[in-house]
Amino acid sequence: MQVVKTPEELQALCLAWKREGRRVGLVPTMGYLHEGHMALMDRARSLCDKLVVSVFVNPTQFGPDEDLDKYPHDFEGDRATAEAHGADVMFAPEPGAMYGPGHATWVVSPELERNLCGASRPVHFRGVCTVVTKLFMLAQPDVAVFGEKDWQQLAIIRRMVRDLNIPVEIVGQPIVREADGLAKSSRNAYLTADERALAPNLRKGLLKAAGRIEAGERDVEAVKAFVREEYARTIPMGEIDYVDLVDPETIAFVDRIDGPVLAAVAVRIGKARLLDNIFIKV
Ligand code: PAF
Repeated sequence: MQVVKTPEELQALCLAWKREGRRVGLVPTMGYLHEGHMALMDRARSLCDKLVVSVFVNPTQFGPDEDLDKYPHDFEGDRATAEAHGADVMFAPEPGAMYGPGHATWVVSPELERNLCGASRPVHFRGVCTVVTKLFMLAQPDVAVFGEKDWQQLAIIRRMVRDLNIPVEIVGQPIVREADGLAKSSRNAYLTADERALAPNLRKGLLKAAGRIEAGERDVEAVKAFVREEYARTIPMGEIDYVDLVDPETIAFVDRIDGPVLAAVAVRIGKARLLDNIFIKV
């Protein structure tokens, strides 16, 4: 596996592969690779001839008070993991190589950014859309794989690709969980032992809410209140950022549950802001 540091080198390599008729796959990550990322790489590997894994903690998707400086890193570990999961290239640029002086062009998708994480992290999706577009221009992938834990991110990228006619197939990969149900995340590393013990209740609350909906509950506010009460009881130190029910494709809030719905939550537990969601077919 080759480690590539500059955008120019990555683009030249991928364009050469494309000229040879190779099918290129891309897995964009911010590193500190765990089993969730491994599932993304394995899926992408099965869909392409040449696999690029990017490891880049993208500064533009972090707000001023967020964890950019503390975000966990493990370059050697990531190199070994990417190689073991079939990457041909690990792209690991410096921030200055991705954002030159005077960078002034952004990709935004305001409607899908309005709710959930977009509401509490105002610059986040502008940074995600911009860096993912840049990675698409550099790697020229035929297929790119993203995790469903960041469901809103996946929905926005699908829409961005459709609206801008970007010729890449976007594949969503189901959430990978710990044995106790906690969604795998690089940010789980921030949890203390006591916080870690309560974190699986995030998933348990969602499963109970899904059970209520499947049993006939149609009132959105009643479901949201139920989940909030569950979290107040089972994760007392948790600070709820949001508990919402949205249309899985448009991320618009739903008034009543009368079709497929996504129940999505973000809860701050200590230093970690944890996300989880559940897709409920009605
Ligand atoms: O999901 C992530 O890790 C990031 O948002 C992404 C897609 C790699 C863009 O920086």
